Amino acid sequence: MNSVSTPAKIILFGEHAVVYGYPAMAVPVSALRTTATITPGTHFEIIAEDTGEVIPSHQIQLALDNALAAMAHTTLKWLNRPAPPVTIRLRSDIPPAAGLGSGASVSAALGRAIAQALNTPLENSALNQLVYNIEKMYHGTPSGIDNTVIVYEQPVYFIRDQQPEPFNIRSPLTLVIANTGQQSLTKIAVGDVRRLYEDDPSYTKPILSGIGALVDHAKAALAEGDLVRVGALMDENHALLRRLTISSDALDQLVEAARSAGALGAKLSGGGRGGNMIALVEPSAVEQVRSALVAAGATQTFTTVVSQMDT
Ligand code: PMV
Repeated sequence: MNSVSTPAKIILFGEHAVVYGYPAMAVPVSALRTTATITPGTHFEIIAEDTGEVIPSHQIQLALDNALAAMAHTTLKWLNRPAPPVTIRLRSDIPPAAGLGSGASVSAALGRAIAQALNTPLENSALNQLVYNIEKMYHGTPSGIDNTVIVYEQPVYFIRDQQPEPFNIRSPLTLVIANTGQQSLTKIAVGDVRRLYEDDPSYTKPILSGIGALVDHAKAALAEGDLVRVGALMDENHALLRRLTISSDALDQLVEAARSAGALGAKLSGGGRGGNMIALVEPSAVEQVRSALVAAGATQTFTTVVSQMDT
């Protein structure tokens, strides 16, 4: 029996605007993972332990309306190999529909597990493309940032359709992540921003370009290790996302609670309308910010430290 695993991700800056060609920055969350365990057997089968889904091989051959079946199908096709006689069990710590990239993480873990079971190399660039294709089928018009940060498991400065770049983090970032407990489909939020953009471009375009400019300021502040500035830019990013109608009362309450408890800055992260927010904190303030978030209604909190090469 052996296993492979893939991380969750958070978007530090630039969600939504990234769909329109502006830059965004995201980091992996290595403590929250999807694990795919491979057990030899008589036939190919995928078991998603969190949902209880069991996907037999005939469903994979047809890739019938199911993201796991479609991912297995396209991976086998890419590797040009028949399905191996193994059971792949998927288990994820990542809350679904919460802006943490659970879908991309599960697809990436499955692709890697299939390649491992076949003892065939699968380059990150190919896996990234395969996962992106699944994201497109099931999540509308994704920018590709989720699959990129998850497959490479590195912080990325990302512009749609361009080669992702690493970025410098001079001082480690201590982030408290808090879940509103409200599931929210990114596809719907992205569609609503699209409608706002089409109906009222003179309102929407300056917000999107404002987010784009702020991402570049954040990149510079991260490289300088100016965490006070990074926090202030997170606050600004949240304000712009609110104007895009992407926040929610629960997100605003958590953002406010984190700031009042001493966070350097806070914002929603990911698709918004629910899901998670992130707060940048001094290491000594983790507990007070975490307690304030729980008191303000967070259903789960996680702490992660993001540094240059390792997260
Ligand atoms: O909600 P998530 O974690 O899938 O993040 C979505 C990020 C968006 O910018 C809103 C959409 C995208 O495809 O980049």
